[in-house]
Amino acid sequence: MSSIPEGQKNALIQAIKRRQRHLWPWAKRYNIEAFRLYDADQGDIPLEIDVYGNYLHVCEIEREDAGSAIYGPEWRLVMSDVAARTLGVPMSRTATKLRPRRRGGEGTDESILPDSRIELWIEEAGLRFKVNLTDYLDTGLFLHHRVTRGMVADLSMNQNVLNLFGYTGGFSVYAAAGGAASTTSVDLSGNYLKWAQENMEANGAIGGMHQFVQQDVSTFLREKQKTNMRYDLIICDPPTFSNSRAMEGTFDIGRDHPTLIKDCLSLLSAQGMLLFSSNARNFRLSVPKTETPRPVSLTNETMPEDFARSRPHQAWLFDMSKAPAGIIRERHGDTASSRRGRSDDHRPPRTGRSRRR
Ligand SMILES: C[S@@+](CC[C@H](N)C(=O)[O-])C[C@H]1O[C@@H](n2cnc3c(N)ncnc32)[C@H](O)[C@@H]1O
Repeated sequence: MSSIPEGQKNALIQAIKRRQRHLWPWAKRYNIEAFRLYDADQGDIPLEIDVYGNYLHVCEIEREDAGSAIYGPEWRLVMSDVAARTLGVPMSRTATKLRPRRRGGEGTDESILPDSRIELWIEEAGLRFKVNLTDYLDTGLFLHHRVTRGMVADLSMNQNVLNLFGYTGGFSVYAAAGGAASTTSVDLSGNYLKWAQENMEANGAIGGMHQFVQQDVSTFLREKQKTNMRYDLIICDPPTFSNSRAMEGTFDIGRDHPTLIKDCLSLLSAQGMLLFSSNARNFRLSVPKTETPRPVSLTNETMPEDFARSRPHQAWLFDMSKAPAGIIRERHGDTASSRRGRSDDHRPPRTGRSRRR
């Protein structure tokens, strides 16, 4: 399109080349096939460009104030083409979308997506994940949680792991690969749970110890509290907002996270851990001063190299073994009984041991 200044196209080409020089060797060294190549790091080029093997996923980021694109579908398509040419990827392997910043924002223009669906398997840390670049806004794997997933693997040996808002099972796959005794993935969406099961099976995580529960998380937590089931590791990475007929009312991270965290903590075993994360913009964790254990920030430790600038999530660890013994007794009764059947010899290294990827 002639109305797009050559200077803007050239700026994108130069930025991609710079990032390529920096990230290609890093991706190769850590065997990473899917990563963020360009992260809106030039003010007047609001794009996110992700590499998935030999494919590209390009999103224009909606303007913050107006709930609409700054440039629109034609600009997006031309800039995608510029990116694809620079990287030697055909446009038939490039999905171009608009990423709304808030609920009710403008949708992706379907007409500029490739004619056929792009679904492929990519590898991460020796594990396989199915991604879909055309049918949804998100692809099935949140790339900014790559290091968090590695941390989950490090913490999972012999543990009963609960993955809340489990989506396509990324955390569950890593937990299983890290030697989890069991995994339970909870999500409202039957489609995503089927996808999670596919991902698990593709990585050899098969059998009754891997459960997939289609339920509202709040209901699931309430029901589990009435049983003796307790988890050694809970991963809770909720959406910013959710509403569905299958749940009571709505979920709003700002309003609901204190209750959600409290409910998760009450389901932890005596030395269990809760890994809580949010990618809501301007999210502020609010935990009552009396809540124990205290959260420890893992945001820096879980931020991968390719998201160092945008830092899209925050993460915290709540570690019951750091809680005063009185609180543990109060929550779990006799701590000796909750230790039964668990060997601390098998406890994996604690936080901060994962290699930065
Ligand atoms: C942001 S994604 C979670 C990402 C995931 N933790 C990961 O990194 O792979 C949000 C997921 O939460 C699910 N979800 C939304 N509201 C829910 C609810 N109330 N109960 C259970 N699942 C819910 C959606 O279906 C979607 O799969």
